[in-house]
Amino acid sequence: MKQGKVDALLGIVFGDEGKGKVVDVFTPRYDVVARFAGGPNAGHTIIFEGKKFVLRSIPSGIFDEDKINVIGNGCVIAPDLFMAEAHELEAAGYNLRNRLHISKRAHLILPTHRVLDRAYEAAKGKNRVGTTGKGIGPTYSEKASRTGLRVGDILEGFDAKYAALKARHEQILRNLNYTDYDITEEERLWLQGVEYMRQFQLTDTEIELNRYLAEGKNILAEGAQGTMLDIDHGTYPFVSSSSTTTGGVCTGLGVGPSSIGEVFGIFKAYSTRVGAGPFPVELLDETGDRIREIGHEYGAVTGRNRRCGWVDLVALKYAIMVNGVTQLIMMKSDVLDGFETIRACVAYQKDGQRVTDMPYDTQGWTAVYQDLPGWQEDLTQMTAEEQFPEAFRNYIAFLEAELHTPITIISVGPDRAQTIIRNR
Ligand code: GDP
Ligand code: IMO
Ligand code: MG
Repeated sequence: MKQGKVDALLGIVFGDEGKGKVVDVFTPRYDVVARFAGGPNAGHTIIFEGKKFVLRSIPSGIFDEDKINVIGNGCVIAPDLFMAEAHELEAAGYNLRNRLHISKRAHLILPTHRVLDRAYEAAKGKNRVGTTGKGIGPTYSEKASRTGLRVGDILEGFDAKYAALKARHEQILRNLNYTDYDITEEERLWLQGVEYMRQFQLTDTEIELNRYLAEGKNILAEGAQGTMLDIDHGTYPFVSSSSTTTGGVCTGLGVGPSSIGEVFGIFKAYSTRVGAGPFPVELLDETGDRIREIGHEYGAVTGRNRRCGWVDLVALKYAIMVNGVTQLIMMKSDVLDGFETIRACVAYQKDGQRVTDMPYDTQGWTAVYQDLPGWQEDLTQMTAEEQFPEAFRNYIAFLEAELHTPITIISVGPDRAQTIIRNR
């Protein structure tokens, strides 16, 4: 039998590109949807039939009752938040049991990891990362330090392991002089969440996924965050703490590189970033406010304002390179309706120097733009690319030529239905 493939669907900028929506649209084509990185720092929005869901840890393939969804070993999971998210889906009528499998090797986010996240951010002062406060950094640090707790630990002797790690965290917090916190209620829910998680299939997902591949089944790997937030390739230290790239798919699911098929890179027709860190295309003016307003660019997890700017070809080229992107997906094209001129960042400049390759440190660089004519038509009602206005077609053709990669899917609105698959 022909071996199945793992296609990767990756955010290739600063996250929030619209991964949840596209995973949901793609799910019918696959047998399995698997998350390989991140945790509840993610907020993936799915809208259909007038309903809206924001998923944090549960893969966006969950709305198709016939599919298996997997939380892979590269993920981190907070039992209390997982329970809340699962309850919401169950209340909406989705049955998760037996079709949501969680890796025993995924790491657990403890309540005290979240306190540590706040404490480390406070200690950084004006250099803070602007994390989501979900304990992501401390949990992945502990994974690397070989002191973390994993999902598999809840199956045996958990109470003692939990108490020991919590005590260690409390000691660190005392050393940091960060003692003004109370996790009593949070911990109660968290322990309830641990109990709740036991009802799910806690498995060796890497073995399971490779078995599916051997059976000829196809897997969609759902990215979280984006390449510019990747621990290796992002704008370090203003990044998240996991591998959000194609390499992360292999380590975060336990599948070999020869199993990877298509690599879909998702980006928006403009750029956003939430949290601190360099952002050469940032528009601190009316245009930036206008994009935020029209695009509803407020964080799905934290409600924070997302910083907005024009599309960044330097970042996109870099992301296409490190991920081996084979197809691009452009989201939120409709948000640019009505702009007289659209700009695209084609290079960065600093102190008279101009670069088109991503610099080691993106701090202090400003964008060099190329202007393109905008369009005045309403894209949200369009159902086929033949209906696209000429200026929008030119924008697409310009991006494809610059990026040497085809844009095969174009999104013109938040609903599942507002997705145009191009004839190629
Ligand atoms: P993710 O983290 O990559 O899954 O993206 P988020 O869900 O955090 O943010 C994307 C936001 O854009 C969500 O509110 C989506 O409902 C919305 N969205 C997705 N695609 C489109 C689109 O083509 N047009 C518009 N206007 N909104 C979109
Ligand atoms: P999705 O999957 C956008 C950002 C945070 C912060 C930095 C580190 O919805 O695209 P962390 O809590 O991970 O330690 O924060 O990364 N960040 C995201 N920004 N979308 C996300 O996920 C993000 N997950 C983390 O704002 O700047
Ligand atoms: Mg998001």
